[in-house]
Amino acid sequence: MAHYRALGRLPRQRHTQLRDDDGHLFREELMGEEGFSSDSSLLYHRGVPSAITDSQVWDLPDQSRTPNHPLKPRHLKLHDLETGACPVEGRRMVLGNNDVRIAYVVTGTDPSPLYRNAIGDECVYVETGSGTVETVFGTVAYRAGDYVIVPRATDHRWVPAEPSRLYAVEANSHIHPPKRYLSRFGQFLEHAPYCERDLVGPADLDALVERSRDLTDVEVLVKHRTSAGIVGTRLTYATHPFDVVGWDGCLYPYTFNIEDYMPITGKVHQPPPVHQVFEGWNFVICNFLPRKVDYHDLAIPVPYYHSNVDSDEVMFYVGGDYEARKGSGINLGSISLHPGGHAHGPQPSAIEASLGVDYFDESAVMVDTFAPLELGEGGLAVEDPAYAWTWAGRGPDAGGDDGGPAVFSNS
Ligand SMILES: [Fe+2]
Repeated sequence: MAHYRALGRLPRQRHTQLRDDDGHLFREELMGEEGFSSDSSLLYHRGVPSAITDSQVWDLPDQSRTPNHPLKPRHLKLHDLETGACPVEGRRMVLGNNDVRIAYVVTGTDPSPLYRNAIGDECVYVETGSGTVETVFGTVAYRAGDYVIVPRATDHRWVPAEPSRLYAVEANSHIHPPKRYLSRFGQFLEHAPYCERDLVGPADLDALVERSRDLTDVEVLVKHRTSAGIVGTRLTYATHPFDVVGWDGCLYPYTFNIEDYMPITGKVHQPPPVHQVFEGWNFVICNFLPRKVDYHDLAIPVPYYHSNVDSDEVMFYVGGDYEARKGSGINLGSISLHPGGHAHGPQPSAIEASLGVDYFDESAVMVDTFAPLELGEGGLAVEDPAYAWTWAGRGPDAGGDDGGPAVFSNS
């Protein structure tokens, strides 16, 4: 993010002394991306950010992946997935590849352990619920419809105020607004569907610092990579990581709520890139939101059939009236995976039914990956095996169901 923020106490000039009233010298830390060549922030710690006293194995939840072979479109019913209650350790992997993983958790109200994803940024979509994410940068409040962007290597913990359904997109890269939305210096341009004002950054730094001040031997769960794949480590820190009295820069966690996204509409059907909200390496995140649709006299509001020649497409249906989609199996909480190499689109009856419609009341979050996705153990556990055959209305698992899906698939 090129959008500069500052919070708390800072020395007037960077890399100079900052002391408290007792003369204690704060320790300056630079958190920077791409080897001092991209966005960064400077943080001022009371303790020593590198002081660890122990390192042990953290056994991660099952990270296994099953290839989508033989090739099929998939329907995964996330609301049927039983997860742990911890916002971090309770996550179950639904889909993943070597660029990005999607996990799902239904939390309780207990806070997560302190956690750091050292592999890449996380974009956690809040399907329902509210609470806060406490971070070294301060507290970030979250609510339903938020994307919570947590930069790589940010110490944080989730503190749900109520049970929350969290859809976690964990990247091997950074996650940021599409470059085409930004000026060459990083400001959001007029054609972008959101801008800096819509991003909510951290606050309440002092409360975190005060609460953590005298805590020692604090465990932080670190997710990282080795040649053996994704692993976890429990690091114990001599002092609490939430000891930052001030920071400034362009690297920090923030939220963006889908209500603040301004959908782009057209005279005829607009392609998915107009719905893009973020991108990472080898994937994009889009959202399809309630909006007026095409106004050409002969417009067909639902999409044409399309082959994702270079991508797998994951739709997560998060809002709207899906009762009207009887027969498809798709409902709130559903994921559809439409893999590359296979065309998809609406069932023919849905095309006719959409003619003359001027408004879509539905919300979905889409992740398109440029490498094939594989099924996580959580995805396999809640798959609807009949979905692949619903366009034809028959297949090896159709069981006599006549149900071609009357799906207004928006992507
Ligand atoms: Fe699509």
